[in-house]
Amino acid sequence: MTQSNLHVAIIMDGNGRWATARGLPRAAGHQSGAEALRRIVEAAPACGVDILTVYAFSSDNWKRPPLEVETLMALLAWYLENETSRCLANGVRMTIIGRRDRLPDSLVERIDAAERATRACARLELRIAIDYSARDEILSASRRATHLADAEQLTRQRFEELLGETRPVDVLIRTGGEQRLSDFLLWECAYAELVFTNRMWPDFQPADLAHAVREFAHRERRYGAVPQPPEVVHDHWLR
Ligand code: IPE
Ligand code: IPE
Ligand code: MG
Repeated sequence: MTQSNLHVAIIMDGNGRWATARGLPRAAGHQSGAEALRRIVEAAPACGVDILTVYAFSSDNWKRPPLEVETLMALLAWYLENETSRCLANGVRMTIIGRRDRLPDSLVERIDAAERATRACARLELRIAIDYSARDEILSASRRATHLADAEQLTRQRFEELLGETRPVDVLIRTGGEQRLSDFLLWECAYAELVFTNRMWPDFQPADLAHAVREFAHRERRYGAVPQPPEVVHDHWLR
């Protein structure tokens, strides 16, 4: 079964361990991780993905050594600048989620430029999470909600609009062997199917994405209901 209109989210983990295992500095793992992202973005539409949300830098990643943080900021700026023309050519719209007020000015400029240049692209939406924390997003949406005149106006749909409009995640993939969410898309993943793989992110291939999507296609999403094929119900009442 070919799936379409999938929202896939990826926690791109394992860059550091990938590099260390090869006797390389962690920065080399992040560089290879950026190349993996380019491959996966190119492969995503053919796998039925139309929204791809990737975790590039968590708000907790500020705790890392300053040199690693600086390297990551520079790499993200380089990625955005370097990939804009490729994204334009491939119909990929880039949007960046997360806080911007703590990012270096040069990165914020690249973010603005990449978003502006690819605004009209509609084949794939690539959402890159930078300085992102799902709990902080939920908190700030809650703060915005306090401006509503009446608490009853705060429906689930309204809250989702305040969170920043997107669809629920269908498949969440985490590479690198850990099985946790690390504060990523907590609301949007309420009914996401989780796929964990031991593969380190720099080794992740389009075939791995296709495999995850195929695995998703075989899962039954029940959303709390009891699965009951309609014909079974019919048979019962006709007898
Ligand atoms: C993911 O790889 C990239 C970021 C968090 C920025 P890591 O840097 O966390 O790699 P490991 O988990 O240490 O191997
Ligand atoms: C999550 O990975 C963040 C990104 C992949 C950007 P981490 O490596 O920071 O997560 P923890 O610390 O293992 O939970
Ligand atoms: Mg990690």
